[in-house]
Amino acid sequence: MAVESSFFADSGDDDLLESRNHVFWEAMLDNIRRDGFVRPPQRVLDIGCHRGGLLARIAELWGAQDLWGIEPIGAARARAQLRLATLAGSVRMLSPEQWKLVPDRAMDLIVCHEVLFVVQDLDAMAANIARTLAPGGRAYVVSGCHAENPTWLTWRATFERDNKQVYTHEPLAFMKAAGVHGLVPAVRPLRESGWATYDPTDGVFGYPSVGALLDHQFRHKLLFRLTQT
Ligand SMILES: C[S@@+](CC[C@H](N)C(=O)[O-])C[C@H]1O[C@@H](n2cnc3c(N)ncnc32)[C@H](O)[C@@H]1O
Repeated sequence: MAVESSFFADSGDDDLLESRNHVFWEAMLDNIRRDGFVRPPQRVLDIGCHRGGLLARIAELWGAQDLWGIEPIGAARARAQLRLATLAGSVRMLSPEQWKLVPDRAMDLIVCHEVLFVVQDLDAMAANIARTLAPGGRAYVVSGCHAENPTWLTWRATFERDNKQVYTHEPLAFMKAAGVHGLVPAVRPLRESGWATYDPTDGVFGYPSVGALLDHQFRHKLLFRLTQT
């Protein structure tokens, strides 16, 4: 199998990923902040961490001590490792085959932004989250690329043209997988208000209408919260 050095067929899209996702990361972090915590999260795991931008932001906000990332692209893991080295006491970047190296019941916070559509086995994903979350810990998982979002069906065709394997999961299937593994699942729209910045001349993942743009950003882009009991 070819070793991937970028997520998108055009590596320029990887370079733009962080600036494009910034508004969604901040919306996720706002929700985490609003839920509150007994003490700021010290051990944090990002599933599909790409080049470590979200972990860097979390370290900046809450001063996490141990940062963990799961990421299949070796070049992205290496960049994350370098970038995060001075921001935390320890940084471990792992491939998805190395999930077992993440300790049991250890993570105060798990985050995951737009990764479910490249994960085939939701049950295994929920099992890994359930095994590694500390008691009282929470996972926050964002997904807009799912079966209930009509815009995803057009974006999916773009990935398929590039021979990228993607999956169209039902949101309820993810919540069910979490419930089966003893987590308490909850869901809400990621964003409820604000501007949807969009230049139709920019990039291949476009919207067919303003209605679709607003529906995607304020309705279909879901934030799941999975709580460890
Ligand atoms: C759309 S990108 C999102 C990246 C990042 N979370 C963000 O918000 O910018 C999806 C990421 O998931 C990674 N990925 C693919 N398969 C994965 C898997 N089985 N487990 C964890 N991450 C995976 C990809 O390599 C890529 O970095």
